[in-house]
Amino acid sequence: MTSSSEKIALVTGATAGIGTVTARALAQEGYHVVLLARNADKAAHTRHEIQPLAWPGRRVDVLLCDLSDLSQVRRAAEEFRQRYGHLDVLVNNAGLVLGDERQTSADGYELTLATNHLGPFLLTNLLLDRLQQSPAARIVNVASMAYQFAKPDFSTLEVAGGYSPMRAYANSKLYNIMFTQELARRLRQHGISNITTNSLHPGVVASSFGQSSNWFTKAFYKVAAPFMTSSEEGAQTSIYLATTPEVADTSGGYFVKKRPAAVKSSYNTPENARRLWELSEKLTGGSFL
Ligand SMILES: NC(=O)c1ccc[n+]([C@@H]2O[C@H](COP(=O)([O-])OP(=O)(O)OC[C@H]3O[C@@H](n4cnc5c(N)ncnc54)[C@H](OP(=O)(O)O)[C@@H]3O)[C@@H](O)[C@H]2O)c1
Repeated sequence: MTSSSEKIALVTGATAGIGTVTARALAQEGYHVVLLARNADKAAHTRHEIQPLAWPGRRVDVLLCDLSDLSQVRRAAEEFRQRYGHLDVLVNNAGLVLGDERQTSADGYELTLATNHLGPFLLTNLLLDRLQQSPAARIVNVASMAYQFAKPDFSTLEVAGGYSPMRAYANSKLYNIMFTQELARRLRQHGISNITTNSLHPGVVASSFGQSSNWFTKAFYKVAAPFMTSSEEGAQTSIYLATTPEVADTSGGYFVKKRPAAVKSSYNTPENARRLWELSEKLTGGSFL
């Protein structure tokens, strides 16, 4: 077990783009960083890159998990709980946009929904007791302004009117924002005052994002790359929300460029957030908060 005085941060999707930069910054700030990754080779490479930047005596560890597979999420959460007594920062950063053909996860859910929302929803809830062991814990959820194009069906969480990759992505990013708001509400209701949670849009970032999508998205990211922001810049709001004292008491917010921003979606109502929570519990087979 890690000493209780050591600050621990868990970053998902740390093997590329914004997640690598976030994990690196947290290691440089003195955190014991745990990289949650689905690819062991990439995780080892990222660990090798970040470990020399960590403070003396601070480790960079790897937790293998494909977030789209709920049994792997349960196993990874259990492994985390065995290895660490507390968690100070959880950055739910992993995310993807897929191709034209609708794919399903190991549990039978549409793969974007499973990866971008259900996995992080389950992981976060399974780690709440470890977050409660921290004097002041933060959950940072990386969403996207693409939420504005969401067209969700809150009785299934699937795309209303049929699958399209961009709509599935937009829905999942709206869910990230609404999950954050509902989680903040539920934490308050339960008198859990040591955990805050906020979501963010990182900007349009020239990372490896979009490479598992259709030809149009791949081409867009390739052609537009020189005009996009870097992963370094894209990670700044995540790092800000994870570390700065300025937002220590802020919870349930959505941030763009380190500033609070309005969520402009007619779907974003407290009633829909409650439905999202309850259906996410049902789909992940849990009952939380
Ligand atoms: N790039 C943008 O323009 C942009 C804009 C708005 C929001 N965002 C959001 O920012 C976040 C980070 O994106 P990025 O630009 O850094 O993308 P990226 O370079 O493609 O990195 C995505 C990360 O997520 C991981 N990942 C994907 N599916 C996973 C799974 N099933 N289990 C575990 N890890 C998984 C990837 O692992 P592998 O290395 O194994 O593939 C990778 O480490 C995402 O949530 C994305 O939605 C990005």
